[in-house]
Amino acid sequence: MKKILIIGAAGQIGSELTVAVRSIYGKDNVVTADICQNVPEVLNDGPYEQLNVTDAPQVFNVVKKHNIDTIINLAALLSATGEKNPLKAWEVNINGYINVLEIAKELKLEQVFVPSSIAVFGPETPVDMTPQETVLKPRTMYGITKVTGELIGDYYVRKYGLDVRGLRYPGIISNATLPGGGTTDYAVEIYYEAIKNKKYTCFLKEDTKLPMMYMPDCIKATLDLMHADFSKLKHYSDFNVGSMSFTAAELAEAIKKYIPEFTISYNPDFRQQIADSWPNSVDDSIARKEWGWNPSYNIDSMTKDMIEKLTEKFEKGLF
Ligand code: SER
Repeated sequence: MKKILIIGAAGQIGSELTVAVRSIYGKDNVVTADICQNVPEVLNDGPYEQLNVTDAPQVFNVVKKHNIDTIINLAALLSATGEKNPLKAWEVNINGYINVLEIAKELKLEQVFVPSSIAVFGPETPVDMTPQETVLKPRTMYGITKVTGELIGDYYVRKYGLDVRGLRYPGIISNATLPGGGTTDYAVEIYYEAIKNKKYTCFLKEDTKLPMMYMPDCIKATLDLMHADFSKLKHYSDFNVGSMSFTAAELAEAIKKYIPEFTISYNPDFRQQIADSWPNSVDDSIARKEWGWNPSYNIDSMTKDMIEKLTEKFEKGLF
């Protein structure tokens, strides 16, 4: 792995993954790309290309121009945005991904990484400690694209010998770049509001429990899987990765330990139905066994860190 292209680099995960990958491989060896015209500030210490993943020739030219050997494809519409524009979700999440796979196959690239999501599960899936191999009948277009993405990634491994890897991210909590258009976004917004206004109205019900993960663990999971010995893997695109699970009320309680005056109210919207179709927790024993997955953060250590980092940002007038 010498020259890495991160597509969708300006998003919540991409912006922090870029920093981590640049610190390992050097800033000039990590080309970032996103649909935004101007380089987002967080990416401006290295090469940037404005790129639409659904435009195959454009992706091909960027890969050739920079002599790319590894693609991390994070470009996607998430669950809530995907329900507002299902065909666009399919276009970006599937047709865009197929462009990446085809180019990787044609140019014999070393590796493709693409995330999947807990959105692959649906109401028929067992909700507690959801197994690796289970019913995948999602009710959202986002989930449908992620199941398809897992299958097609594995297909390119078996049919063409391409190195394709991916894991099922839970809700990701972070303090650098805001998430956009997901059902788990409340678990990020709540911290910003707790610090700024000491109150938050949650768009999910208080007892909605979902699998979540703090960004440092998300970066670790991504890099650990990318660095794993491919010949030892028995799964490729669909690893369950767990870290923590909590309800909205439990998260509010964890925040109150640091901000006692914080209050929460609940006003569920269309995202409630999406959340209700997802598991409470996942069984990640296969990821632990195949590539040594082991998360570091729990709800309390994450909350302490989130509040410290966001208080600093707030005091600097950054939100
Ligand atoms: N965070 C994503 C969403 O809520 C799940 O992968 O859509």
